[in-house]
Amino acid sequence: MSEKKEPITSPTNRAPKSQKPHRVDGGDDPNAIGAQVTVTIDGIQTKVPLGTTILEAAKKIGVKIPTLCYHEDLCIAGVCRLCVVEVEGQRTLQAACAFPITGPIVVRTYSQKVRKARRHIIDLLLSEHYGECYSCFRNNNCELQTLAKEYGVDYFRFGHPEEPRFEIDRSSYAVVRDNNKCVLCRRCVRTCIDMQEVGVLEAVNRGDQTEIATFMNKPLSDVVCINCGQCINRCPTGALRANDPTDEVWAAIDDPTKHVVIQTAPSPRAGIGECFGLEPGQPLTFEMNTALRRCGFDKVFDTNFSADLTIIEEGTELLLRLYKALVEKDPDVALPQFTSCSPGWVKYLEHFYPQYIPNVSSAKSPQQMFGAVIKTYYAQKAGIDPKDIVTVALMPCSAKKYECNRPEMCDSGFKDIDYGLTTRELA
Ligand code: SF4
Ligand code: SF4
Ligand code: FES
Repeated sequence: MSEKKEPITSPTNRAPKSQKPHRVDGGDDPNAIGAQVTVTIDGIQTKVPLGTTILEAAKKIGVKIPTLCYHEDLCIAGVCRLCVVEVEGQRTLQAACAFPITGPIVVRTYSQKVRKARRHIIDLLLSEHYGECYSCFRNNNCELQTLAKEYGVDYFRFGHPEEPRFEIDRSSYAVVRDNNKCVLCRRCVRTCIDMQEVGVLEAVNRGDQTEIATFMNKPLSDVVCINCGQCINRCPTGALRANDPTDEVWAAIDDPTKHVVIQTAPSPRAGIGECFGLEPGQPLTFEMNTALRRCGFDKVFDTNFSADLTIIEEGTELLLRLYKALVEKDPDVALPQFTSCSPGWVKYLEHFYPQYIPNVSSAKSPQQMFGAVIKTYYAQKAGIDPKDIVTVALMPCSAKKYECNRPEMCDSGFKDIDYGLTTRELA
């Protein structure tokens, strides 16, 4: 008999939340007495619902307040103090992102006192920020760099580290962590626990010893990271980035003995335009494929082909499971059947819900199926020794980098997929 399993849907989240948002409920009716409060920001008067933060109120009237630890996807942390403003009647400067408006207030967002405080904070952050901007992959796309420029930082007033303090963690196939560039904003921490419900990262120690760490400071590859890359998306600096195999891919292209094949998932074709200033979602299939051929890839294939294979395999497997369960009345059949297409989801399940591993389809994901087909059927058809074929996958997600390095992904006797590239890396 199969063991009794806990219900798949749980009304509560598995992981604890890092912090509750600072919102005071003002009621649903915007016209109710007391539901709206008056706020004057830099001389502009407006009304906002009770509990709105100063930052939100300022945004509403087009007043920009700089932020660093704040992110609209995440709950409030209030740790960087970059968003400080003067609030009349308050003894000290207040963090605009964490200050709920509960009565009429007058705010100054750009007074001399405020500007001085922000400049000090930026100088202090830079005094612990090791690395040169010109050699950083986030150059011209770094929030700390933008703030330093905006606040006129032209020298390191409080010094600048000459040596790195932390070793770079390159253990993960998906994410590289460089704490030397970390500004301790904790966006990654909140992303990992609140959004992904994983909780791999945490701020440890106190004062100037504070750092972002994993459990017992183990390498990222040794903890329960699911390689989703969401922390990278929200890191304001170069402290987190995807593990980029571009050099290895170029080396394969430059090697005349190698036949280099790339598959492209649908999403990068719609997303790559953003990297060149185009509207998100603009399809660039033909332009991108042409560019790939010009880069030197011998063949460019569409992952949609192997996605169809996966659907056929998963569909067949589901029918067989249903037949066993419903017709043969086998009580041990694992149902429902879950897809195996997302390596982030599969790893999440393996770590947190291992009892449901039998429910995952045994079919490979489209990425991996493509690799297996290329190194068997295609190799035979094209008359190429599979050992001379290098397969590259262009995917929207960093977890795909991990997936191609899973030890079991080599049914042909070779690695199904040799390298995983993200859209940004290709651009
Ligand atoms: S990649 Fe995902 S799971 Fe891993 S640390 Fe980042 S947010 Fe957490
Ligand atoms: S790694 Fe990035 S997101 Fe995380 S605390 Fe440091 S700077 Fe912030
Ligand atoms: S952005 Fe408000 S404290 Fe960091």
